[in-house]
Amino acid sequence: MTKKLFIRTYGCQMNVYDSARMADVLGPLGYAAVETPEAADMVIVNTCHIREHASEKTFSELGRLKQIKQDKSGEYIIAVAGCVAQAEGEEILARAPYVDIVLGPQTYHRLPEMVARAERGAAQNRLRNEVGAGRKVAGLGILDTDFPVEAKFDFLPAPTGAPGVTAFLSIQEGCDKFCTFCVVPYTRGAEYSRSVAQIVTEAEQLVALGVREVTLLGQNVNAYHGDGPDGTAWTLAQLAYRLAEIPGLERIRYTTSHPRDMDDALIAAHGDLPQLMPFLHLPVQSGSDRILQAMNRQHTADHYRRIIDKLRTARPDLCLSTDLIVGFPGESDADFQATLQLVRDVTFPAAFSFKYSARPGTPAATMAGQVEEAVKEARLAELNAVLQTQLTDFNRALVGKTLPVLFEKAGRHAGQMVGRSPYLQPVHVQGAADLIGQVRLVEIDQDHSFSLSGRLVAGPVPDVPPAAMRMTA
Ligand code: 5AD
Ligand code: SF4
Repeated sequence: MTKKLFIRTYGCQMNVYDSARMADVLGPLGYAAVETPEAADMVIVNTCHIREHASEKTFSELGRLKQIKQDKSGEYIIAVAGCVAQAEGEEILARAPYVDIVLGPQTYHRLPEMVARAERGAAQNRLRNEVGAGRKVAGLGILDTDFPVEAKFDFLPAPTGAPGVTAFLSIQEGCDKFCTFCVVPYTRGAEYSRSVAQIVTEAEQLVALGVREVTLLGQNVNAYHGDGPDGTAWTLAQLAYRLAEIPGLERIRYTTSHPRDMDDALIAAHGDLPQLMPFLHLPVQSGSDRILQAMNRQHTADHYRRIIDKLRTARPDLCLSTDLIVGFPGESDADFQATLQLVRDVTFPAAFSFKYSARPGTPAATMAGQVEEAVKEARLAELNAVLQTQLTDFNRALVGKTLPVLFEKAGRHAGQMVGRSPYLQPVHVQGAADLIGQVRLVEIDQDHSFSLSGRLVAGPVPDVPPAAMRMTA
């Protein structure tokens, strides 16, 4: 009998990947995905600790799930996974005793065992309920937030299901950088890289399932140093060249990178490998050296600018995206102006901008010079206005250009197909369903701010970008 599983995913792409792998792990136990928590027998909330008020939001979601569990007389398994689970596991069980399973990001290969125990708990709830005794919504309270010595990746099954044309592939986890604002080193633990062999196998399995583009994931993905087939530790550049040999794998992306680990070999790979898409997410956080130092970023604004110059020399059509924080403790007007200047100099057609917000347990949370909320708001608005202009200019400049587009699915209108440009914008064309999975050239004729549209044009997809695609001013 099929059991029904609903997974709610918050946060980064790694959580999206983890959710897919949790579904893979539970498939052999008979669990198949459903669309709503009400329709499920088991729900997993895959949490994100980076969100503001992450734990309150988790508890309010759990409150809603408690109601469903009550309606189902306790025959409902609630699991909390991800970074809030890792950081606040004990508290979750104390405050939400109807939760059955709390597991961290490093232990989901052990889910089958935990779920088997929780299923017995759910059955007991039913029996208690039948005899009219006991608390209907009792949870089993299983907690597993270890950083086990065995690597979870050694125990995960091959990906199953229909991942579609694009997929995430986790290659690295954890972070040893300890930026002073960030919880990741505490929730995801120390840096760990999967072996090249394991990654190549998973990429080949994905391609066999129809995937044409993989995004390699890691909290510090370009610090990758996994065991290579020759017994040495391979870099991300070496891995990229190896993955580019897989027939049928048309596009490779990676995220999230750190400026410190952007080495020359990786920069050169951007020039050499047509599969490596000319879009790079490279967080800078601030343009002020003083603030970068207080953030413990281990690089200066100039170091960042030099990396960008080299990248654009290697790959002139490279489009950059970044993360920026305004209102970090001690940030003066001059520091903020330095951030604006860096944004203007580099130009980021895509960016995520955040107001600094204190995360308990991180060094910045107790630093002197916390910035007033109104100042943060004003700086964020000013920054966003600049970023919006850069996005608009970038998209507008694409009109009239011909871009390779990887088609993913049918659009909302009849005869319409949707794919993605190298720069991740959705691109709409009129075309047939057999476009799905193909990279085809599209002449862009309209920019709709969040997407583009155009018409298919004949011809082979060039390996190198035409000079006209230079994106820098
Ligand atoms: N406050 C604001 N933004 C933060 N980020 C991480 N921690 C914080 C925080 N405490 C942002 C950083 C990071 C992105 C994923 O989230 O910009 O790169
Ligand atoms: Fe967090 Fe800094 Fe590590 Fe990125 S590099 S995950 S911001 S500590």
